[in-house]
Amino acid sequence: MSKALGVYVHWPYCARICPYCDFNVYKNRAIDAAAWKKALTKDLSHWARRTGQGKLTSLYFGGGTPSRAPVEIIGHVIETCEFLWGFEQGAEITLEANPTDTEQLHFKEIANAGVNRLSLGVQSLRDEALAFLGRDHDADAARRAIECAQETFARMTFDLIYARPRQTIEDWRAELTEALAFGAGHLSLYQLMIEPATAFARAVDKGRWAPLDDDRSADLFDATQELTAQAGLPAYEISNHARPGDQSRHNLVYWTYGDYVGVGPGAHGRLSANGARIATETLARPEDYLTAAAANAPMHVEAPLSATEANIERFSMGLRLIDGMALQPDDCFFEQGGAREKLRRLVEDGFLIWNGELLKASGNGRRLLNRVLYELLG
Ligand SMILES: C[S@@+](CC[C@H](N)C(=O)[O-])C[C@H]1O[C@@H](n2cnc3c(N)ncnc32)[C@H](O)[C@@H]1O
Ligand code: SF4
Repeated sequence: MSKALGVYVHWPYCARICPYCDFNVYKNRAIDAAAWKKALTKDLSHWARRTGQGKLTSLYFGGGTPSRAPVEIIGHVIETCEFLWGFEQGAEITLEANPTDTEQLHFKEIANAGVNRLSLGVQSLRDEALAFLGRDHDADAARRAIECAQETFARMTFDLIYARPRQTIEDWRAELTEALAFGAGHLSLYQLMIEPATAFARAVDKGRWAPLDDDRSADLFDATQELTAQAGLPAYEISNHARPGDQSRHNLVYWTYGDYVGVGPGAHGRLSANGARIATETLARPEDYLTAAAANAPMHVEAPLSATEANIERFSMGLRLIDGMALQPDDCFFEQGGAREKLRRLVEDGFLIWNGELLKASGNGRRLLNRVLYELLG
């Protein structure tokens, strides 16, 4: 079987910027579709020359709000990928959408352009929580969008953010039960993170509200594992749950530390070349990205990762998966000073499980994953 290869396309615009979000996002602008198509074609062609001929396992339009991009741009990217690499049989083509009524009007066109999986940023099924999260839709619009996506796309998933301030376990159990009743094959359930330099970080700094405490967050996390497993969507990654066979193939490329190309403003990629790992990044500001493309100037920076950097990334990704990651006794990880001893201690303390081929985090290890990674790789 050929090695998995994914393409990530970043669409940087949003109708408004949510107070918790630290992605590379900008308020909507007038879009010059021809300029975008030209820039993205150039970007994709550059990487196709580097990756060679293998077909794509997955294509992912993330953002930002790619459901607001002109559909001709989405269709053009899909056709260009088909021309440059081709798609494997059953390749996954996902697009992130916001659940407003305006967006739903485009679902059919987006599916006709070739997208076969929609990822909806529902965030909550409670109006009060949506207002707190600064969203421009209410819970009913989200419910309508879920149903419309289920009718329109072969596969769909939606995101919820929990562990919100003052959220009780009863509230969350009721909300998650309602979410599971839609019968989607995949759900991403994220605990609210207070990211530096966001409006939420400023509010917390000023003492306007406090994040949920760690004990309560852990209780909500445990309830999440229990309810999703009962509904037949157990976690396959810390925040991601799927029916067997409905895991996100694109995200699995990241978590198994496979190769992926990143195009569009601020997109990251990871490629393998001669046994080394190359980190790639495109210009982050949309104007710089478009200007560079128009002027035939470089649109990317890239740098090889050291063995330590690559191992930190590989373990940080792989240990998020419930099934863990491949780790043979002759892995280059063991060349790092003290690696065997650190691993032995974490296994002995019950945070990691290793059978000489696969390494995975125990339930406790996953709950304290950052600490475990620090102990193992720090
Ligand atoms: C790149 S966002 C795009 C989704 C889409 N634009 C939307 O907002 O509906 C992907 C997902 O990351 C999650 N997310 C973003 N910031 C987060 C934060 N600070 N804490 C927890 N989840 C977050 C949200 O669930 C969001 O749907
Ligand atoms: S959460 Fe989604 S809509 Fe909100 S700013 Fe981030 S990318 Fe844009």
